[in-house]
Amino acid sequence: MTSFAVLISGRGSNMAALGEAVRDGRLRARLAFVASDTPDAPGLQKAGAAGFETAVLPYSERGRCGAEERLNGLCSSRKAEWIVLAGFMRILSPEFVRLFQGRIVNIHPSLLPSFPGRDGIGDAWRYGVKITGVTVHLVDEGVDSGLILAQQATEIRPEDTLETLEQRIHEIEHAIYWKTLSDLFRGILSAERRWRK
Ligand code: GRF
Repeated sequence: MTSFAVLISGRGSNMAALGEAVRDGRLRARLAFVASDTPDAPGLQKAGAAGFETAVLPYSERGRCGAEERLNGLCSSRKAEWIVLAGFMRILSPEFVRLFQGRIVNIHPSLLPSFPGRDGIGDAWRYGVKITGVTVHLVDEGVDSGLILAQQATEIRPEDTLETLEQRIHEIEHAIYWKTLSDLFRGILSAERRWRK
């Protein structure tokens, strides 16, 4: 069975949604471990309470290189073939991305390539777009720039506040992430970029 690791930095609601999808069999894969760059990420506690193995990546003690060495070691020993980013706030090095080429996935709360970066929801909100959404993509050496695997749009309604929009975006994320991973792990999604003319 395909096996994946989840990397988080904070709340971990996407990790929890993936964990539930694994638990109830919607996502037929093994969640090998959940790792965070921050020891006090609330998501780590959630993952532990749900019975998943957890780990802290030693970014502050050993820097990016040391933390990625540990991550690589964990993936080998726990046999995780895929790395799934879910609110992980660190940039993986180009060397690490190349090592896991085409096997690192991220979810971003905007319709990429619009509004990449740390605050996709807020940036779309402040810009005043009428439609935004969620993107699931492969990770390449850039920031939020890898091959797009899935997207879902949502209208920004006149009655929305930033909070209601955030809530709706997270609901979409929780529904789209496991489905996309399921297709990806079953080889249904193409991992090739096709430029259209
Ligand atoms: C999500 O909005 C995700 O798209 C972004 O970071 C947020 C993480 O939220 N990359 P959570 O920790 O999964 O609740």
